Amino acid sequence: MNIRLHYLALILCFAALSCAQDPTGPEPPEPLAALRDEAPFPVGVAFQASRLNNAQYTSVAARTFSSLTAEWEMKMNPISGGRGIYNWQAADDLVAFARVQGMQVHGHTLLWHETTPAWLENFAGSDQEFEEAIQEYITTVVDRYKDDVASWDVVNEAFDNNTGLLRNSVYRRRMGDDYLARVFQYARDADPNVLLFYNDYGTPYDANKRAAVLAMVDDFQSRGIPIDGVGLQVHVTYTFPPIGDITAMMDAIVSRGLKVHLSELDVRVNPDGDLTTLTPARSQAQKERVGEIVSAFMALPSDKRYAITMWGLRDPDSWLISFWGNPEWPLLFDADFAPKPAYEGFLEALQPE
Ligand code: G3I
Repeated sequence: MNIRLHYLALILCFAALSCAQDPTGPEPPEPLAALRDEAPFPVGVAFQASRLNNAQYTSVAARTFSSLTAEWEMKMNPISGGRGIYNWQAADDLVAFARVQGMQVHGHTLLWHETTPAWLENFAGSDQEFEEAIQEYITTVVDRYKDDVASWDVVNEAFDNNTGLLRNSVYRRRMGDDYLARVFQYARDADPNVLLFYNDYGTPYDANKRAAVLAMVDDFQSRGIPIDGVGLQVHVTYTFPPIGDITAMMDAIVSRGLKVHLSELDVRVNPDGDLTTLTPARSQAQKERVGEIVSAFMALPSDKRYAITMWGLRDPDSWLISFWGNPEWPLLFDADFAPKPAYEGFLEALQPE
């Protein structure tokens, strides 16, 4: 056999051997695509400044999401230490992180009755002085972040459950029933470009609250009060509310020419406390639930799809665990920062039909 044929035979044998004996074992699975790369709209995560020094949190959040909402640090309680006293550091750190990672920032939230600092709850001055303090706060915060924050929840959860009546918050008591319109205007005056949202939970299934929110939108639009969108928090379970109710509320917002933000998505899989661990069956149900919600959002006109924001990164981070007292696994990543079937459900729903 001439030398050339000899070498050719050797090469063929080696090639055959290397295919037959795979020393590295099975190929590792391809990593799942990043939601931020696949979604035709911003996909957000509620994030806390305390996690910025944890490389697992920052790398998974930055790879996966294109929007960031401060779960705590951009609320009035952590920012406002008193009239003219602002604690910016934590919010600045989150905004800086988002900027470096090419993530937009959704500001949450300028006014929320649950995070009003004591100096305002117990404000000793006149009603006019109270409103001047609120206007000063909104103007200062919105102006500070106008180059970084794409949108604000101007008011969060202003209407009572079931009745749909205006909550008797300190804002209402000191500024009157029309305070919402004025604070939206103060935010607009501070930044002509930022998108202004009203944010609430329960509107898909709480008829009176839904009616109150839509009546507010109609009233704003009749008076030229600036509003660009409505946030549906979508703190849901794997079965409730029916997707048709969520879709009906989204359509009601879109029909008014406003954008929809699914602003705080999490999917409880243990609402009845019957699980002590996440079963494959319940995980599959969660995957399908996430998929149907994302698919319903995908069906909206593209210019009305503001964003979908997950209310936390990993299951153990969720507020739901302490709030309801049950073991819960409501998010897209497990305790080891691994994507769950729910992540795959989100991803699959992003693929064009
Ligand atoms: O980190 C601070 C700590 O430095 C400080 O000493 C301590 C003093 O109380 O507070 C710590 O902050 C906590 C913060 O979460 C961060 O962990 C606050 O106590 C705690 O009240 C806060 O809870 C947040 C809650 O809103 C109230 O702001 C939850 O994380 C957050 O998930 C929850 O999110 C809300 C949305 O904003 C509105 N929709 C409902 C949703 C669930 O309640």
